[in-house]
Amino acid sequence: MEIDQYPIEQIREEFPALQRIERNHFVGFFDGPGGTQVAKSVIDSMATYMKNGVSNLGGSYPTAMETAFLVDEAREYAAVLLGTEKENIAFGANMTSLAFRISRAVCESWEQSNGNIVVTEMDHHANIDPWVTAARTKNLAVNTLELDCETKTLDLSNLSKIINEETKLVAIGLASNAIGTINNYRKVIQRAKEVGALVAIDAVHAVPHFAINFKEIGADFLFCSAYKFFGPHVGIVAIDKDVFNELNVFKLKPAPREAPNKLETGTLNFEGLIGVTEAIRFMANIGNGNLLREKLISAYKKMKSYENYLADFLRKSLAELEHVKVYQSGADVPKTPTISFQIENMEAKLVCHYLAQNYALHLEYGDFYAMTLVKKLNVKHGGLIRAGIAPYNTLEEINRLIDALKKLKEI
Ligand SMILES: Cc1ncc(COP(=O)(O)O)c(C=O)c1O
Repeated sequence: MEIDQYPIEQIREEFPALQRIERNHFVGFFDGPGGTQVAKSVIDSMATYMKNGVSNLGGSYPTAMETAFLVDEAREYAAVLLGTEKENIAFGANMTSLAFRISRAVCESWEQSNGNIVVTEMDHHANIDPWVTAARTKNLAVNTLELDCETKTLDLSNLSKIINEETKLVAIGLASNAIGTINNYRKVIQRAKEVGALVAIDAVHAVPHFAINFKEIGADFLFCSAYKFFGPHVGIVAIDKDVFNELNVFKLKPAPREAPNKLETGTLNFEGLIGVTEAIRFMANIGNGNLLREKLISAYKKMKSYENYLADFLRKSLAELEHVKVYQSGADVPKTPTISFQIENMEAKLVCHYLAQNYALHLEYGDFYAMTLVKKLNVKHGGLIRAGIAPYNTLEEINRLIDALKKLKEI
């Protein structure tokens, strides 16, 4: 797709928040990895549901039946998004809660002091700590796939030692929310499957940027969060059918015993689920095709080429600024359009404050819960400054950011 054919104006019109003005500028929202802005159709669908009369599930009156239909529809849409069937999709408050909940259930079947689990130094801690906590409960060893600080990729040179015959579970992210590196997850999953380990995939940072095919990836659990792709705060997990059926979750006695409902404690966030459907529909409508999946794949292609165009321009411009240090893997490593950097001798918080106060640019700083990675890279001055590019960002916003960083040097 030619960049000038990307319907940026049309897409921007779909986001009410992009009308926000601060300091005489339209706000440049660069914290998509922390949570994208929400599409108007998502907001409207949630409000409409609540205005039209809400209900819990199970009733035989119209609002209850409508709610049941809408929950089912959300499951169907999430399944198409992730490349699986709706029976394999469960919802929760957010990714972290789902991971903790599943980890408690998974470790029920682990024998005391028998084996290990594997986590990475690249991941957000939401895909580390639930599994490490579970391993501690059963006194299992924790092996680690280390970050290579030079290449800023995972060091897979000892893969067959780290993931071995004793491994019960491997947890790995598809892409880093801190530096954008897309991991060589296929190689890791292949090894995990060779030894019969379960695989937990964090796709929270990946789903906003590239199409996921759960079946093809071959994982047992795959997590994402709708607020990272224009939707509300709802966590989603896809689970392998057999693993799901076997999963012995903590549940209330009268609650459903069958997958997927058995994982969904209490009453779901119905209005949130309606927002999930609408967020996926919104993405699909950026693409072309007849079937939902077809439209989504086409949409991802368009969004990706536009985001990469902006990201490449930003990377190139940052490389020309001597006082800016970018933390990213090499050109041969695939990356999301998430670019983290530091300004020489400046506190990250001050830089972000300056960008917001003077240029209405919203960038986040810190470790973004990828705490191990940021520590290992020895990042000082309060952490990384992260520019996350979303499909609604513009070249003007990127230029504004570059100008602001140039001026920072003069100040
Ligand atoms: C890569 C990644 N994994 C997991 C999470 C946690 O997601 P949630 O907020 O839905 O628990 C985040 C949130 O920023 C993330 O970026």
